[in-house]
Amino acid sequence: MRLIEEGFEVCSVDGSAEMLAKAFENGKRRGHILRTIQADWRWLNRDVHASYDAVICLGNSFNHLFSERDRRKTLAEFYAVLKHDGCLILDQRNYDAILDEGFSTKHKYYYCGHQVSAEPEHIDEGLARFKYSFPDGSVYYLNMCPIRRDYTRTLMQEVGFQKIDTYADFEDEESDDSTPDFYIHVAEKKYFGDQDIADRGDSAIEYGPSSSDAVNGKDAS
Ligand SMILES: C[S@@+](CC[C@H](N)C(=O)[O-])C[C@H]1O[C@@H](n2cnc3c(N)ncnc32)[C@H](O)[C@@H]1O
Repeated sequence: MRLIEEGFEVCSVDGSAEMLAKAFENGKRRGHILRTIQADWRWLNRDVHASYDAVICLGNSFNHLFSERDRRKTLAEFYAVLKHDGCLILDQRNYDAILDEGFSTKHKYYYCGHQVSAEPEHIDEGLARFKYSFPDGSVYYLNMCPIRRDYTRTLMQEVGFQKIDTYADFEDEESDDSTPDFYIHVAEKKYFGDQDIADRGDSAIEYGPSSSDAVNGKDAS
């Protein structure tokens, strides 16, 4: 909604008709007609035929994909739907910290309101099962794949993204040494040829990680 209000053309794509209906209703309440497309991201370009400046995949949504094959295919589909200089913005919880140090939260960023608590009920390298408790006493569970930060960066690079910046709770990673709750990756598609780099006369272009940087492995399922 905020993007529409800033003047961007927005299209909301989700595999769930219920989620799209909810988003549409939210838009209507704020006076917008939200364009929605029901599509599985793994076959995004089958259903979405325009090109976009940005693909924004937030809310820990990429972590719903449990096989590496599906993750690669989805990233490749995101890459393909972008314009030549477009970018992908994708977030994930800080599963490195949850796996290595146990769960803690700064309660700074909320995707489901201030009154909902989200805590992992089970965690191992293949599954993060979160329990969502609501003020009315209702409880829901969500299974997510706990992929690690550098693994995501590596997959992005391997599907063709050229420059990947990762922010920690929306800040530069260097700016805060406490453990972030979320990582936000900004992956740019724009390809700089050797001549472009030479013309710049510097090595300011920071490339993505090499596959040897990957921390966790193949299929988590
Ligand atoms: C945690 S919700 C986040 C929803 C929304 N992005 C937000 O931030 O509020 C994850 C969403 O990912 C969608 N999703 C998961 N896997 C998908 C896939 N392969 N294709 C399309 N949508 C998918 C689910 O339907 C669900 O709506």
